[in-house]
Amino acid sequence: MTAERTATAPTVGTATSSRVLTPWVAQARPQPPTIVRGAGRHLHTKDGRRLLDLSAGLVAVNVGHGHPRVVEAIRQQAEKLCYATPAFGNDEREALASRLSDLAPWAEGARSFFTTGGGEANEDAVKMARAITGRHKVLSAYRSFHGSAPGAGTLTGEDRRWANEPGMPGVARFFAPYPYRSPFGTTDPQAETRAALAHLELVLTHEGPANVAAIVLEPVVGTNGVIVPPEGYLEGVRELATRHGIVLIFDEVMTGFGRVGDRFAAVRFGVEPDMITMAKGIASAYVPLGGVLVRERLAAHFDDAPLMCGHTYSGHPLAVAAADANLTVLEEEGLYERARSLEESLRERLNGLRDAHEAIGDVRGIGAFFGIEFVRDRTTKEPWVPWYGGGNAPMTRFTGALRDEGVYAFGRYNVLLVSPPLTILESELDEGVEALDRVLAREPWRTP
Ligand SMILES: Cc1ncc(COP(=O)(O)O)c(C=O)c1O
Repeated sequence: MTAERTATAPTVGTATSSRVLTPWVAQARPQPPTIVRGAGRHLHTKDGRRLLDLSAGLVAVNVGHGHPRVVEAIRQQAEKLCYATPAFGNDEREALASRLSDLAPWAEGARSFFTTGGGEANEDAVKMARAITGRHKVLSAYRSFHGSAPGAGTLTGEDRRWANEPGMPGVARFFAPYPYRSPFGTTDPQAETRAALAHLELVLTHEGPANVAAIVLEPVVGTNGVIVPPEGYLEGVRELATRHGIVLIFDEVMTGFGRVGDRFAAVRFGVEPDMITMAKGIASAYVPLGGVLVRERLAAHFDDAPLMCGHTYSGHPLAVAAADANLTVLEEEGLYERARSLEESLRERLNGLRDAHEAIGDVRGIGAFFGIEFVRDRTTKEPWVPWYGGGNAPMTRFTGALRDEGVYAFGRYNVLLVSPPLTILESELDEGVEALDRVLAREPWRTP
């Protein structure tokens, strides 16, 4: 039997004999490096190379790799208790929820419902909003990512949604602002805010605001281009949601826990949603953890009505231990503040790259969360490839060449995400930017 299995092991093209199915790609592809160890800002490969992690994994490893304090907290928890069913009390889970309530933007506090990841959190947030409002529709933005499973995948406003279609009923979409490539044809941020809010109001009118349970929004768009909202947009969405009794959900899976220079983007922008979905940076991805932070006045709805959400791993003790230690590191090492100073360092260095390389159309970001948008022509802003269905070939070539220079970063289509661990040193930033500079100087990446 074993021999038979070996004989039929997959050897797809020249690419892989792996039994692991890799997300989002055709499996026949050049083998990526195998990672065997992580330390600080670096990943170590099986073939003995060291890669500077310029994207904190998938914008997640906020405290850097292998932080001893987080590792030790997981180890100690593993010795004490590896699993407690979500229906039981658990002191560590309670403590994390209180801590999150203190970090939340609402004076009234918040309660947490824990999940295993961000997509699940978004699905549960929508379920809760539907239960609270008794309405069924949900509005989400084009050019957004909210997760991969059918529910969160339907909320997603880009081509990774298409495989989910027809998907979950009741989701309508709108365009959010994108000052560099306005979907409304505007040329300045204030006009973009006004046009985007008028458009959202129009969409709401046509969907019937009284049918809409929730608006789900990334306060800073992540994998769809690191798009920072122009001034006044989030406030305007808040006002529309309040006016129509709609639950406003900020998907802070990427933006939470220091990434944008504060606990949450909601705090950084001073705009209060009704729920915040979280994952990634909550435990710096050491152990899978996500959750929905629900402002107290909405959470109280479930004091009498049953909360019809549940997962075997909800508030898993190992994840909770990792998150608690991670939050301590973020606070004690001053990493919220560090993300603010990284904003200056990154902006200056990446703007320098833009000045030197015609292939860069735009550099934008907030905190330690930046995007570099590549174009074939700076004047026309023609992207490397069309955003949807354009294929990722130039970006794959670019990130491959970057790895050859000792740097890992990830990107999609024509936007590279520069979102390092918040512990990154200025000298390491220099190292990363110099590698970007060398790669940009060498090759005609604009070719599709
Ligand atoms: C903004 C946002 N929401 C949700 C998700 C999905 O999170 P997960 O992969 O943990 O399900 C992601 C993942 O990248 C994300 O960036």
